[in-house]
Amino acid sequence: MLKKVNVAILGATGAVGKELLQLLAERQFPLKNLRLLASSRSAGSQIAFKGQSITVEAVSENSFQDIDIVLASAGGSTSKEWVHQAVAAGAVVIDNSSAFRMDDNVPLVVPEINPEAAAQHHGIIANPNCTTILLGVAIYPLYRVQRIKRIIVATYQSASGAGARAMTEAMVQAQDILNGKQPQAEVLPYPIAFNLFPHNSPLNEQGYCEEEMKMVNETRKIFGDPDIAVTATCVRVPVLRAHSEAVNLEFEQPFNVQQARELIATAPGVKLVEDWQSNYFPMPIDATGKDPVLVGRIRQDLSCDRSLELWLCGDQIRKGAALNAIQIAELLLQKNLLTVSNSAVSA
Ligand code: A2P
Repeated sequence: MLKKVNVAILGATGAVGKELLQLLAERQFPLKNLRLLASSRSAGSQIAFKGQSITVEAVSENSFQDIDIVLASAGGSTSKEWVHQAVAAGAVVIDNSSAFRMDDNVPLVVPEINPEAAAQHHGIIANPNCTTILLGVAIYPLYRVQRIKRIIVATYQSASGAGARAMTEAMVQAQDILNGKQPQAEVLPYPIAFNLFPHNSPLNEQGYCEEEMKMVNETRKIFGDPDIAVTATCVRVPVLRAHSEAVNLEFEQPFNVQQARELIATAPGVKLVEDWQSNYFPMPIDATGKDPVLVGRIRQDLSCDRSLELWLCGDQIRKGAALNAIQIAELLLQKNLLTVSNSAVSA
């Protein structure tokens, strides 16, 4: 039996925070105490957990006293402000923001791919970007059999990726449009209802946005393969929750399509969803609220005999964020990795 631990959720009132709470209950996570932290805006509000009501506290210097694991999902600037204090207080932080992902001292972990990396932590383990997690889980069963040389991916990302307020905004905009009113955009830069737009993260000199570069750099780090060629086009679409991705994989040698299907059908964290007769394949509404990444339309690339095409959908808030973080926490308990090893992490 796993030992019980004290857990704090930083960002407990957000979309990922709420999912973390649900998963802790659903998976019977061995909790001693649970502390819910957010900004001063939500301090004093009550959140129900397993029949109890827990008061949300504004994060402060004292928040991490006696805490074993912090699940942080309150954005990069909040993580930069508080994560080191949590580590100094003796906690291990599983950080869902991008603040530490590319830090050499911070493992970037997807338990189905590189669980061994978790053992290298110095107090912080980073949870990868949602699109990268979903892609990685779907393609790793193939990569294990034959190295992937190049990945070309286009994403179809839901409003949930921009937080709970963006999901509400999408619904309000849809209602406004149906009522003949002009949709207002405040959280996302443009109306998302009945529309789509290229991901609005900052662009680099080569014309790639930050979200696309996360897919490039994080995939290489998780796979421990700095030479995989990755190019991505990330697009925000009018879906509430669950991201989709169209993926082209180039191998060194041709990859048998039937073997690819069998590998994906039996791998952990993925589910093969293909009904070629009825043209039924993964859809965001079917992935919503589900743990596995749904994969289908696996087919030979007509333009290259060493390449496969596939389509995936995964719940961005679940496996793309909260579930992956909880799986890392479970791994820490199972492998007895809660002790912070030697040197402190770089600031
Ligand atoms: P709050 O509700 O008090 O603003 P989402 O990604 O769904 O928008 O959620 C963001 C989460 O991060 C919320 O729980 C939010 O709390 C929390 N948060 C945002 N800014 C801060 C901050 N400066 N300090 C602590 N928590 C923060």
